[in-house]
Amino acid sequence: MSSVPTALVILAAGQGTRMKSDLPKVLHEIAGAPMLHHAMQAGAALAPERTVIVAGHGADAVRAAAQIYDPDAQVVLQEEQLGTAHAARRAEAALDGFDGNVIVLFGDTPFIGPETLEKIVAARANHAVVVLGFEAADPARYGRLVMDGDTLERIVEFKDATEAERAITRCNSGVLCAGAHDLFNLIAGVTNENAAGEYYLPDVVGLARARGLSVTAVLCDEAETLGVNSRIDLAAAEAGFQARRRLEMLELGVTMQAPDTVQFSFDTWIGRDAVIEPNVVFGPEVTVETGARIRAFSHLEGCHVSRGAIVGPYARLRPGTELAEDVRIGNFVEIKNAEIAEGAKVNHLTYIGDASIGEKSNIGAGTVTCNYDGVFKHRTVIGNRVFIGSDTMLVAPVTIGDEAMTATGSVVTTDVPAGALAVARAKQVTKPGFGKRFMDRLKDLKQKKTEGQN
Ligand code: UD1
Ligand code: MG
Repeated sequence: MSSVPTALVILAAGQGTRMKSDLPKVLHEIAGAPMLHHAMQAGAALAPERTVIVAGHGADAVRAAAQIYDPDAQVVLQEEQLGTAHAARRAEAALDGFDGNVIVLFGDTPFIGPETLEKIVAARANHAVVVLGFEAADPARYGRLVMDGDTLERIVEFKDATEAERAITRCNSGVLCAGAHDLFNLIAGVTNENAAGEYYLPDVVGLARARGLSVTAVLCDEAETLGVNSRIDLAAAEAGFQARRRLEMLELGVTMQAPDTVQFSFDTWIGRDAVIEPNVVFGPEVTVETGARIRAFSHLEGCHVSRGAIVGPYARLRPGTELAEDVRIGNFVEIKNAEIAEGAKVNHLTYIGDASIGEKSNIGAGTVTCNYDGVFKHRTVIGNRVFIGSDTMLVAPVTIGDEAMTATGSVVTTDVPAGALAVARAKQVTKPGFGKRFMDRLKDLKQKKTEGQN
């Protein structure tokens, strides 16, 4: 990689009218992260010295999102959207004193790969301005690259193009790289005398050539420059992300019988030899260690699954769930903000929230940690080798000591010391013969009723 420092400018002020949304376009999510984060992550491959986001529509929300990804990112305001050159110019003051390469990305073009960005920066060593282009299957309304050999002479926007220019299939991705000094000098010369009445950033190419500067285009795969302008594009971007991530997971040694049915987040981490069964959904911040198995139709977010653990089918792990090695979580079990220690089992129809469960404890079917009193949340602490009988209600805050037991159907409201048995349910009353007599009487009654109707 080049030793010249890089600054990243991401244009993200546009409204995104075609999204038909109250949310700024760049905050729509792909794989659980705003599009803007994907664009910032793409740019991060260049280890930028500075990052400037140009925000306009929904600027406060865009600023907040940008700074979640990178607290050092500078966010500048473009009050009126007068075009991409006008937007890029807003970054000039923020880059005061910066003397390296500036690379301009669009916030709605989230998938530019690191190799492509490195190629652009490498080309910058020999050219004053480098533009990223692509061969378009359908050039549609993209700006067209007017080339003479390897020299990029100018870029013409679709609206301003002649018939001959519209026939060009080599298009502008919007990504552009130049030295900071050159870039802002060139931008200052851009006018809005064109069909759209906008300040076009691509016009810096023609201006650079007029000054005798060398300009070239680096080409990439069209999939990388995929721009999101509508919900249809957003769904396509999601599908593209998922397809790539599934392949990566398979290549890393993760087994999936039906990869097309598994949904990943931008940050899902899975160890080799883990098995992910069909129809599993990963929300953000999930790590699954080697050899774990996530069975079909499970939903995981914000959790860690250690090696050898088995989850599901039909399990839901919510944020703050920590499963130690060899834990078993079965069907229709929901776990939130809880640590389950090694070898513990929570196998059927259970809710565990704000709790810890010790080693090798067994939680019976239908157990509920009653963690919420309507105002506050309370913790349930269960020790090691505890046996919780089926259908136990653990009314938190409550602690169950090591090797204690609760009787099936108990409502446990006070702490149970180690080794004790807690029985907290009504005593059984058995009345000999009563059941049959009662049933016979009911049948009799029914018979008389039907006779009365005839
Ligand atoms: C732009 C390019 C076109 C290229 C295409 C690739 C221009 C004039 N044209 O067209 O050559 O083929 O991208 O997708 O640059 N933005 C601002 N402020 C503005 C205007 C835009 O921040 O005043 C931002 C938008 O939020 C968006 C990006 O710049 O992230 C691109 O703007 P957009 O209006 O989508 O440009 P295109 O018409 O797609
Ligand atoms: Mg666009």
